[in-house]
Amino acid sequence: MILTEGKVRIEVPEFQKITSKNKVFYNPEMKMDRDLSSLILSFYKGVVLDGLSATGIRGIRYVKESGLESIFNDINPEAVKLITKNCKMNDVECKIYNKDFNVLDVEAEIVDIDPFGSPSRYLASAFRIVRPKGILCVTATDTQALCVSKKACIRKYSAIPLRTDFFKELGIRILISTILREGMKQDYSIEVMLAYAHKHYMRVFLNVKKSLKGIENNIRDLNIVYYCSCGYRTYSKDIMQGCPNCGKRINLSLPVWTGEIKNDNFLNKLMKKEITPDLEKILNIIKNEINVPFYYDPHRLAKTYKFDLKKIDLVIEELKKMGFQASRTHFSRTGIKTDADLLSLLKIFI
Ligand SMILES: C[S@@+](CC[C@H](N)C(=O)[O-])C[C@H]1O[C@@H](n2cnc3c(N)ncnc32)[C@H](O)[C@@H]1O
Repeated sequence: MILTEGKVRIEVPEFQKITSKNKVFYNPEMKMDRDLSSLILSFYKGVVLDGLSATGIRGIRYVKESGLESIFNDINPEAVKLITKNCKMNDVECKIYNKDFNVLDVEAEIVDIDPFGSPSRYLASAFRIVRPKGILCVTATDTQALCVSKKACIRKYSAIPLRTDFFKELGIRILISTILREGMKQDYSIEVMLAYAHKHYMRVFLNVKKSLKGIENNIRDLNIVYYCSCGYRTYSKDIMQGCPNCGKRINLSLPVWTGEIKNDNFLNKLMKKEITPDLEKILNIIKNEINVPFYYDPHRLAKTYKFDLKKIDLVIEELKKMGFQASRTHFSRTGIKTDADLLSLLKIFI
């Protein structure tokens, strides 16, 4: 069947269900991310490698909408046939590879990896392929591994996750930490332009640059995150024995990226462009999010402290009146980001 997405027409196989078992994979649920990726990449120049292309939709949109030159790759020969067809249908010059991403011998200013599940096995190659100053776009759909499953997280991300009320943000920060730790091995530092979680996936856009000075700075933002069931949370490089709030044993997650996960100037530029309503909605929330790691979920705190809930916007207003920064977060409808400590936040409810 032929679909229109953005400015391109694309042939995708007929499918009953969205599954990686389809002859060639296409997921309409990722349209918003493709809209966003194409918008973000329109601010960059050069060659983009659509490393796990499937139908070729990303690479084709990057040519038609972002003004880039695309290289396509997919290990599946059926995908390569379809990419060839789709490039022709859209008058896009096609340089297509049918290889395992990890043996690709190409160079590109921008590398996009959009795999089934975890991107971790492709990160070393992404850094090998990207130019010394470039951009990486990375998707992860194994949010269970990043946010919940300790064994899977250790195996795939060499990191320890933690069940918290801010699990989505912790998951994306573990993903960024993994990307950074892989990049550092090849002398790359990172600057996160935007990291967001939506539906079943997480997506990170990073400027990467070979720079030992940059790495030194990045390392300051790799920390241990501490979290107690009383709601207390902090991050540090130091070892902490017990919870400073309730004295109980404190749990930890590591290594976690605690640096910025968006670039506000860049977001302002994105929002000046013509964008779809769903993109505008999520970007607006992200733009207004304060740059403080980890949100609170009053629903979770209410279970522990047995208080009546209040409207999120009212709580945010109260926090601001108390002199704290506070905002909603795109990670959770019921979440609040604030630089207030736990006890100050609880005063609003108790
Ligand atoms: C999630 S799909 C990509 C979806 C596509 N980017 C889009 O936006 O529609 C992942 C693709 O990676 C391909 N793939 C899986 N393992 C690969 C590997 N080792 N090297 C290259 N491609 C691979 C699969 O054949 C599949 O087409």
